[in-house]
Amino acid sequence: MTFDLRPLSAGFGKEVVGLDIESGIDPQTAAALKAAWLEHGVLVFRGQGTSPEVQLKLSRCFGELEPHPIEKFRLPECPDLILLSNENGPMGPVYEFDGIPITQRIPWHTDLAFATTPNAGALLRMVRKVQDGGQTGWLDTAAAYDALDETTKAEIADLEAVYLFRPGLEEMRFNNPGGKRLSPRKEGYPDFPPIANPLVWTHPETGRKILNISTLNIDYVIGQRNEKGDALIRRLIEHALDPRFQYIHEWENNDMVLWDNRRTMHAAMGHPVDQIRIVHRTTIKGHVAMGRVYTQEVPA
Ligand code: SIN
Repeated sequence: MTFDLRPLSAGFGKEVVGLDIESGIDPQTAAALKAAWLEHGVLVFRGQGTSPEVQLKLSRCFGELEPHPIEKFRLPECPDLILLSNENGPMGPVYEFDGIPITQRIPWHTDLAFATTPNAGALLRMVRKVQDGGQTGWLDTAAAYDALDETTKAEIADLEAVYLFRPGLEEMRFNNPGGKRLSPRKEGYPDFPPIANPLVWTHPETGRKILNISTLNIDYVIGQRNEKGDALIRRLIEHALDPRFQYIHEWENNDMVLWDNRRTMHAAMGHPVDQIRIVHRTTIKGHVAMGRVYTQEVPA
């Protein structure tokens, strides 16, 4: 094996050191990297993302890449790379927090929690970091599940919840960070149907149980669309957001961070809108459906 793993400041995730990506990754090393990704949930490659080619070479060790569905977010010269940048104006909504206009603030979520098949993972490369804010956090939802008491595990074992696409923070029903919207609301998003997902996922590759509580998307517990179900969601979110399950990355340029999207949530902390932040992202396609389109309304 041509790399070492070092602990991060959190109870999960590892830093990968000693890997020479530029010279090429042989199949044995690629398999070892994939095993480390599945075992640890998050892998950090400090300072190693020196070019788009390096990012693509590394990303392809973990599976098939999925270009962004909207063309304007793809890098024209490299469609497998997704450009997250406010160089030509903010990408998403701008909100005021503590009197400061903030862009790219995305609360804790699992990518595609509002679709039947979540991504397997993703890899971010910091091209241009900001002076203030801009951190990204990851949260180990497998450890959060393991730490639940046995009564709660039994209570949620067979429950499903409804998850929705949410284009703005205002629609969040739980753990809404507030903030005053400064940019106009955009219309014309695709019409994503509601999705029913188990509250406890079984990871398709590791078999671990995962607390599936994407705060941006979760709407209500099926069969408990009432105060009891809402109180359960609030309790699970409060439990999961404990800092002991979190890793917050303070970016330096050329850092890369890879995550397993089925075993973690992530959050972008946002940054002042007048500071330019440029990130390149690859997404690793998911192949296993965890949820189903939900058409039936169950009375509370
Ligand atoms: C993402 O969720 O892909 C973006 C995270 C970030 O901008 O820090």
